[in-house]
Amino acid sequence: MPERSAILGVGHYVPTKVVTNDDLAKMMTTTDEWIHQRTGIRERRFIEHTGIGASDLAVPAAKMAVERAGIVLSDIDAIIFATLSPDVTFPGSGCFLADKLGLHGIPALDVRNQCSGFLYGLSVADAWIRVGAYKRILLVGAEVHSTGIDLTDHGRDVAVLFGDGAAAAVIGGTDEPGKGVLSVSLHADGVGATDLWLENPSSRTAPVRVTHQMIEDRTIFPRMNGKQVFRWATDKMPEVSDEVLKAANMTVDDIDVFVPHQANMRINQLVAMKLNIPQEKVFHNIERYGNTTAATIPLCLSELWAEGRLKAGTTVLSAAFGSGYTWAGAVYRF
Ligand SMILES: CC(C)(COP(=O)(O)OP(=O)(O)OC[C@H]1O[C@@H](n2cnc3c(N)ncnc32)[C@H](O)[C@@H]1OP(=O)(O)O)[C@@H](O)C(=O)NCCC(=O)NCCS
Repeated sequence: MPERSAILGVGHYVPTKVVTNDDLAKMMTTTDEWIHQRTGIRERRFIEHTGIGASDLAVPAAKMAVERAGIVLSDIDAIIFATLSPDVTFPGSGCFLADKLGLHGIPALDVRNQCSGFLYGLSVADAWIRVGAYKRILLVGAEVHSTGIDLTDHGRDVAVLFGDGAAAAVIGGTDEPGKGVLSVSLHADGVGATDLWLENPSSRTAPVRVTHQMIEDRTIFPRMNGKQVFRWATDKMPEVSDEVLKAANMTVDDIDVFVPHQANMRINQLVAMKLNIPQEKVFHNIERYGNTTAATIPLCLSELWAEGRLKAGTTVLSAAFGSGYTWAGAVYRF
């Protein structure tokens, strides 16, 4: 059995439709200045037309990850699909993706941990690899937010933050000294479950899950207590980063690149400051994609890969915080 798991390749795909802050300002009362000042976001991607699900965005991302890992699709022996916006309520998007990739019979696990979804999935993949259950796992983060947000004044605080996109990583075993996933840590606290949530349709509404009242009350759209989420994120992301660094026997000086979840540029600047990580080591692409939730960390990794910045020996720290609350961290070396 391999000593550790490692990220062997990463890929991404985003829809071609670019939606700028000025475009949003035509749908709701907002400005480019308000959005950019508070979040760092300039634009995001939306699916081009109806009928495109998270699993569709994941197909090209998965193919790129597999190619960059130097393997072929049939080498994949398990799929982990992290998303809060699955194609349909059930079955999971992993099943749809497996079929679209022509992978029949391998397990497909959906992970529902929002912005921490990729790191939760990484933890599962890491454990599966180290116990020898699977050899090449396709770990996906993909979201279609644009069809689920309230693009009016009622939902403008949430709607301006999110974008569509997908990214994937191939996780496999390694015995190379110092390479691979060196530590990973997961947390959750339901005390904040309703600070960022999508309440309806709900299985607890009898006799039918969806009602006209829900649509009128706009509870079919996500709602957020932004200030509370901001406070928790800027506490928990440094805390879990310290925890995974310690577990890997490292300090921030050993880190080449900090790849945090992309929810808000101000959150990440504050987190980096608390950790004493210089801004030039912090990767961000939120200005171009907004928050793509489970896709953000692998989307960053895929762009770093394309830039040739993930060389053998490059050490990465990641931290994420999101709805749940859930939060997670990881240290891994290429
Ligand atoms: C959402 C967030 C950017 C709002 O910033 P903020 O500093 O808390 O907001 P402010 O207090 O400065 O502004 C709030 C005001 O802006 C208004 N506002 C909200 N959304 C707006 C928008 N898109 N455009 C213009 N004005 C908006 C509000 O109605 C409010 O107006 P009021 O004071 O007249 O009631 C911030 O709270 C945040 O980033 N939170 C974390 C969110 C997050 O990361 N979520 C994902 C986690 S995975």
